[in-house]
Amino acid sequence: MNLPNLKQARLRTTKKVEYLAAANLKSTKYTNKKYYIRTYGCQMNVHDSEEIKGILENLGFIPTTDLEQADIVILNTCSIRENAHDKVFGFLGRLKHLKKNNPNLIICVGGCMPQTDSVANLLKTKYPFVNIVFGTHNINDLGKMILKEDQKQQIEVYSIEGNVYEHMDYVRDSKISAWVNIMYGCDKFCTYCIVPYTRGKQRSRKMEDILEEVTSLKKAGYLEITLLGQNVNAYGKDLDFGYNFATLLENVAKTGIKRIRFVTSHPWDFTDKMIDVIAKYENIMPYIHLPLQSGSSRLLKLMGRRYTKEEYIALYNKIKAHIPNVSITTDIIVGFPNETNEDFEETLEVVNKCKFDGAFTFIYSPREGTPAALIKDTLSKKTKIDRLHQLNELINSYSLAHNQAYLGKTEEVLVLGPSEKGSNKVYGYTKTMKLVNIDGAGEDIGKLILVTITAAKSFSLDGKKVIFTKN
Ligand code: 5AD
Ligand code: SF4
Repeated sequence: MNLPNLKQARLRTTKKVEYLAAANLKSTKYTNKKYYIRTYGCQMNVHDSEEIKGILENLGFIPTTDLEQADIVILNTCSIRENAHDKVFGFLGRLKHLKKNNPNLIICVGGCMPQTDSVANLLKTKYPFVNIVFGTHNINDLGKMILKEDQKQQIEVYSIEGNVYEHMDYVRDSKISAWVNIMYGCDKFCTYCIVPYTRGKQRSRKMEDILEEVTSLKKAGYLEITLLGQNVNAYGKDLDFGYNFATLLENVAKTGIKRIRFVTSHPWDFTDKMIDVIAKYENIMPYIHLPLQSGSSRLLKLMGRRYTKEEYIALYNKIKAHIPNVSITTDIIVGFPNETNEDFEETLEVVNKCKFDGAFTFIYSPREGTPAALIKDTLSKKTKIDRLHQLNELINSYSLAHNQAYLGKTEEVLVLGPSEKGSNKVYGYTKTMKLVNIDGAGEDIGKLILVTITAAKSFSLDGKKVIFTKN
């Protein structure tokens, strides 16, 4: 998608030090001023927000969760479905009000939404109280833009991706489990999806840079890392170094970090070698998120997914057969333009065959500029909602059945923090990515512990810590 009114990306350098120097982030103008950040969308955005927090804290800002106290508000936005847009515009209405009482408040809108012409133009014409607008390709310009801030709206969004940056100062949300980007962008151009337009072409990070990051996270005490990319299985295809995701995964496993996860996998790029590596290394978790999108080969073709229903099921079965105790979750879209009853029945049929551990399900949302948005859609909203409910019911029944199979078993759990389910509980995940709420004290946070599963629900397990007693 071209943004005629916005700038083309300039060639980028790759080292943090250069952008820090260029942005003169040593200024004391913002020392102890407060920032409030709100993140919408996927894990990629969550991790981008860790970069944004790093930039703000380099400038002297400190975090607040109280919007009323904030000197600067950053919305890191998502474009994947229309409801993500609606939420941001709704929140901007609230911020406009807030700014009436606090005219010095700096409001920034960044991430995926401004990457589309219509949103960038709308922010310009209808939301002049937004001070700073930046895109996904120039997050690292945010520091400079804030320092230039003088209440005139600044819009800097690049339509073309630049180089890959290294050595960012992330302020990570967790000291136990860390996100590690292995690539940016996506070249798959599924016909319904806005990501290749908002995040640009696929750019893989060099393996040595990723390994260096994982090694330093391990040294800093992290027990888990999640390798992040829109399509991690295509890692390395845009580089000339002859390595791929299987090579990377194997090398990450050899760093000895306790737990390795990765999201998201595209079935088309999933190789046998990847399955071998996942099965071989104890520290690669037996959990795969493998988006199906639809069970109808007719729709899969219209979606540009490059596999048929049969090929998906064959891959699914191969993974199940080779990786002991693996858990597999998926994404499914209902109501793709003109999805027939038969198409939908085929989706249910694949769910019945695969019996996924879980699924994220969505009603199709037309995205401006994507090929699918041009298809005239005759399906009623009611049909789409009914299908979503029917699908969710089926998915939930399998999730519950999978979870019930854990009853009475003892599982290794990485404890991540206090649980929302009670003041004396903590939560963590099994190797297979099952959420467990555990009776127990906070001293287990940040530890791998053994837990006996005492109850199973559709979306979580309950458990009790195994206490070893001396004879
Ligand atoms: N409408 C609905 N769901 C979508 N997804 C991506 N684009 C759309 C869209 N236009 C879903 C896919 C993807 C997940 C992250 O979001 O299922 O895997
Ligand atoms: Fe979107 Fe398809 Fe790329 Fe996933 S693989 S980010 S659905 S274009």
